[in-house]
Amino acid sequence: MPEGEVVASPTRDDGGGMEEEAGASQVVTPWEVGSKDGGKINYDKLIVDFGCTKMDADTVSRIERLTGRPAHPFLRRNVFFAHRDFDKILDSYEKGEKFYLYTGRGPSSESLHLGHLVPFMFTKYLQDAFKVPLVIQLTDDEKFMWKDLKLDEARRLARENAKDIIACGFDVSRTFIFSDFEYVGGEFYRNMVRIAKCVTLNQVRGIFGFVGEDHIGKVMFPPIQAAPSFPTSFPHLFGDANQSKNIRCLIPCAIDQDPYFRMTRDAAPRLGFHKPALIESSFFPALQGESGKMSASDPNSAIYVSDNPKQIKDKINKSFSGGRDTAEEQRKFGANIEVDIAVKYLGFFLDDDKELARIKEEYRTGKLLTGEVKKILIDVLVAMVERHRRARAAVTEEMIDVFMAPRPLPHMFG
Ligand code: TYM
Ligand code: TRP
Repeated sequence: MPEGEVVASPTRDDGGGMEEEAGASQVVTPWEVGSKDGGKINYDKLIVDFGCTKMDADTVSRIERLTGRPAHPFLRRNVFFAHRDFDKILDSYEKGEKFYLYTGRGPSSESLHLGHLVPFMFTKYLQDAFKVPLVIQLTDDEKFMWKDLKLDEARRLARENAKDIIACGFDVSRTFIFSDFEYVGGEFYRNMVRIAKCVTLNQVRGIFGFVGEDHIGKVMFPPIQAAPSFPTSFPHLFGDANQSKNIRCLIPCAIDQDPYFRMTRDAAPRLGFHKPALIESSFFPALQGESGKMSASDPNSAIYVSDNPKQIKDKINKSFSGGRDTAEEQRKFGANIEVDIAVKYLGFFLDDDKELARIKEEYRTGKLLTGEVKKILIDVLVAMVERHRRARAAVTEEMIDVFMAPRPLPHMFG
């Protein structure tokens, strides 16, 4: 079965909400992430349903060998747990062939939340480790069509979000950031139309769960997110089709974006391109617990990079805990660290492996209390958000203009 026909997303009901397929216990689409019984998301099942490949220890060591640097904590800890054709990227890189990175953001909120930092921090690591160019798509059009947002407000949010993205430290000599409202046209548009012609209405219904009542903007959108996967969409970077058609694309994202790229990978060979490769992360969980992702649509679920230390402290102190009700019971029985949100968050953002292992063990056995673990996490997050705040404050309007100018990047490889 061609990849575009893998139906793992649910269908939508008439009310506009998402409804699981009969028997499905979890929903993972670009718009909704959750599990039916409130339990954890089963990522192994997702790999099987979506047809991706598990990231294994051999691949992680191979990255270390090829880049000559230690693997990012997100690789060591299996945050990026799945991929498609990532081995092909490494094979071709080993032969000295070129690839580029592509990722994106749908500007639906004033600033990013901690979950968004996951793909962007990881993309920065990949850019530095492999010394490759990067394109970042801001889908202001998507958010205009899906959310209750005025068109100019979506455009404004795209530029605001670009500041947070630049603050992650991307190299201006290797990075092109674009908003759909400003950049779509030319070769990019020609690729969109080619892609659209490869996909039937039945396929997008199956992949995305669109129904007859949906406006046709939704049906029109997937080719827009697909087009940056093809190098000829960026002639100012890669030259004309003769020069660029064989350049491979690697897309770091969370697994909710997989449906778009199943569709893209199905179309790619028919258009004479390599299928884009993917490296996919699990979700940074909501404050309420691991059955959902941290989401900008639910402000209660999220810590924003614009939150102040007091807000961070209050949110973490209210987050879902696997600790016992009283200090006495905690000392006696220890915590359930499998469901504890503070422990999960430390697993993403506390770099020191030994310290992380110590905290987990002492919390599990009751030596550490919930308040103490939360305090450690609050300190880690306050420091990280403060670093981000300073980096963002240093981003000027001129810098945004430079990152977003369609321009050649002569030193983008190597
Ligand atoms: P958006 O803005 O919803 O999310 C941007 C990126 O963040 C990831 N993400 C998360 N990762 C970990 N934990 C979370 N809780 C979490 N929430 C969001 C998303 O998977 C995504 O990688 N349509 C896209 C924009 C886009 C794009 C792309 C993303 C266009 N082209 C190519 C990735 C790759 C969107 O609205 O993402
Ligand atoms: N569709 C994504 C969202 O709503 C935004 C997005 C556009 C994206 N292009 C992407 C995400 C590429 C990951 C990779 O969240």
